[in-house]
Amino acid sequence: MSKLKVPFVNLGIQFERFQNEIVDAFVRLSTGGQYVLGQEVLEFEKRFAKVCQTKHALGVANGTDAIAIALKTCGVGPGHEVITTPNTFIGTVGAIVMVGAKPVFVDVGEDYNLNPNLLEASINNRTKAIIPIHLTGMPADMAPIMEIAKKHKLSVVEDCAQAISATYEEKPVGSIGTIGTFSLHPLKNLHLHGDGGMITTNDTQLYEKMRLYRNHGLINRDESVFFGINSRLDNIQAAIGNIKIEYLSDITDRFVSIASLYDKGLDGIVQLPLKFINRKGVYHNYIIRVQQREKLRHYLQDKGIETKVHYPNPLHLQQASCDLGYQAGDFPLSEQQAQEILSLPIYPELDNSQVSLVIDSIKDFFC
Ligand SMILES: Cc1ncc(COP(=O)(O)O)c(C=O)c1O
Repeated sequence: MSKLKVPFVNLGIQFERFQNEIVDAFVRLSTGGQYVLGQEVLEFEKRFAKVCQTKHALGVANGTDAIAIALKTCGVGPGHEVITTPNTFIGTVGAIVMVGAKPVFVDVGEDYNLNPNLLEASINNRTKAIIPIHLTGMPADMAPIMEIAKKHKLSVVEDCAQAISATYEEKPVGSIGTIGTFSLHPLKNLHLHGDGGMITTNDTQLYEKMRLYRNHGLINRDESVFFGINSRLDNIQAAIGNIKIEYLSDITDRFVSIASLYDKGLDGIVQLPLKFINRKGVYHNYIIRVQQREKLRHYLQDKGIETKVHYPNPLHLQQASCDLGYQAGDFPLSEQQAQEILSLPIYPELDNSQVSLVIDSIKDFFC
């Protein structure tokens, strides 16, 4: 295998871009001594809400907690079912189980997101919420999902972990459902130097409950009004968020422009991500579909190009799901996609010559 010419991620070079500001913030906040929650968190929440065009944003410890807190606050618990898709990161489903509810899967469409045409058949009197995931950074088809949710009086928790700044009918993700949840994990388009998460909502009552729930139900240092959890965001992480959120539109533009280079270069060669006139994706992952996926993957690896698969094992076929009673064949499109998808490197620091190398190498493979 040759030396890696195009790594799948390269967080070190992004740090170099922000190094001076981050080091200054670290020194300033370390001297100040307020390490958990604090002013930087409040500021980050304010800026995040502005990006999502929501009334509120709430910093939490990670994206999985964000979903669990959202579900819990919508009244989801034991005896309830929550509908989502089986091709997501394990955390979406883990959060449903965390609140004591049962995950129910619905297959996806060609956009890798919940297929609204299949949704209603899975709703029953135990169903309490739907979690559409904006997978790869492409918004799910929210209009029919919201219509069905309204008809059946269900909460909608948008899993926006991969999709900050994506829009559906001009509305930012996280502002469409009852609640939006975000991960700020180091691999996300907007990320911290460790774990972090954010919750968005326009519902002030839900926001107030979630704000207390993330910090043990405490209304002051010594008094708690209900039992909650510790899912606080660190002040230093929020300071990093405040530095990076300033550059979010630059960061997003670069993801989108790399995606359009791939679109142009690979058109007619492999199956490309779908495009929609009413949805603007942010290409957290750029996923192509090919039948000889493993062969192509090894070919690219030999050329020094690292790729990944998001995700190779659908959730209903994981050992963790064995009690849910699903089997192979239950979600045909998710299963087929899992065999054929390949994520190409995409991050703002990737330069055009690296993108060209990926495109040319894929073309070489097919000719
Ligand atoms: C779609 C999706 N949902 C939920 C999560 C969970 O976020 P976290 O890792 O911050 O807990 C992730 C993160 O990987 C994700 O990609």
